[in-house]
Amino acid sequence: MTRIDTIPADGTTAVTVRGLVKHYGATKALDGVDLDVREGTVLGVLGPNGAGKTTLVRCLSTLILPDAGTAVVAGYDVVRQPRQLRRTIGLTGQYASVDEKLAGWENLYMIGRLLDLSRTAARRRADELLERFSLTEAAKRPVLQYSGGMRRRLDLAASMIGRPSVLYLDEPTTGLDPRTRNEVWAEVKRMVAEGVTVLLTTQYMEEAEQLASELTVIDRGRVVAGGKVDELKARVGGRTLEIRPTDPGQLTEMALALSETGLDGVAGSQIHDGMLVVPILADEQLTAVIGLLGARGFDIAHIGTHLPSLDEVFLAITGEKSSEQADGGHHDADDAQLKGAAA
Ligand SMILES: Nc1ncnc2c1ncn2[C@@H]1O[C@H](COP(=O)(O)OP(=O)(O)O)[C@@H](O)[C@H]1O
Ligand SMILES: [Mg+2]
Repeated sequence: MTRIDTIPADGTTAVTVRGLVKHYGATKALDGVDLDVREGTVLGVLGPNGAGKTTLVRCLSTLILPDAGTAVVAGYDVVRQPRQLRRTIGLTGQYASVDEKLAGWENLYMIGRLLDLSRTAARRRADELLERFSLTEAAKRPVLQYSGGMRRRLDLAASMIGRPSVLYLDEPTTGLDPRTRNEVWAEVKRMVAEGVTVLLTTQYMEEAEQLASELTVIDRGRVVAGGKVDELKARVGGRTLEIRPTDPGQLTEMALALSETGLDGVAGSQIHDGMLVVPILADEQLTAVIGLLGARGFDIAHIGTHLPSLDEVFLAITGEKSSEQADGGHHDADDAQLKGAAA
């Protein structure tokens, strides 16, 4: 499946992947992946467990060799120019890559030395990055004593030591609590603002929405959809506001009251499962809707927002469940459908 249409005409592509294949025995971890990351942007690679995300990152980091296909990062070919390529990339793996027994500062200093920095330069870079990631106070403490968020910040700092122009983040917030996740997102946004190009893998639609401008959805080693995050969201359906009145008999009345306001999005409201479901187009609209219902004196039992889950995304894009949920064993029969969805 070709995604040639996404290659920018000005040629400022930091990562170009074509027909990338990696098999482990009978497992097609990557089964012909095409993708592009434009310079200075974040591409989200969204997929369930086992989709091939880590295999992709490992190929693009020269940690493993692909069986077929090509990948060029910052102008360097992953197979033919691994050494040059490694100097331009940073990697934050799915699992913390720092040594827990060492202090934060020691970890960063050591990595700097491994990257051939002089003692003075490595020391300076470690100090700088600890400051930058708000870890100066914890610099001398062993990483074992760090919180999950501090560890992840140290991971990010470690990946920045060599001043990479392209950064891979492999599920950077999986397993983190919401507050820590927000911290990591803020750091990633700062790095992007500083000009780093990011390839981010994730299982969370919300993370892709927060950080990525474009998205490639993969499953079973294949690209099943791709495009601008907004476009995919429009296909999948975005965030919704769910309102459950104490008296279900008031549902229609509530829907009417809302539609009379003429607020953006309320026309698309639906009654579903005893709830009024309103598409959220902007944060202002959310407050306006809640304010209006309060002013009209509706008695509300529950109010909440809902984001489409990865499964809902897959269902909407491909018309089928992700491989994690599917029974499996019918990959070939699905090909026509997947190609149709990705076109
Ligand atoms: N070293 C390996 N040996 C054998 N199978 C592997 C290996 N690494 C990954 N796989 C398999 O390849 C598929 C993709 O794995 P992975 O890239 O880790 O997916 P993800 O990161 O999206 O969860 C899975 O079926 C996994 O079991
Ligand atoms: Mg993985």
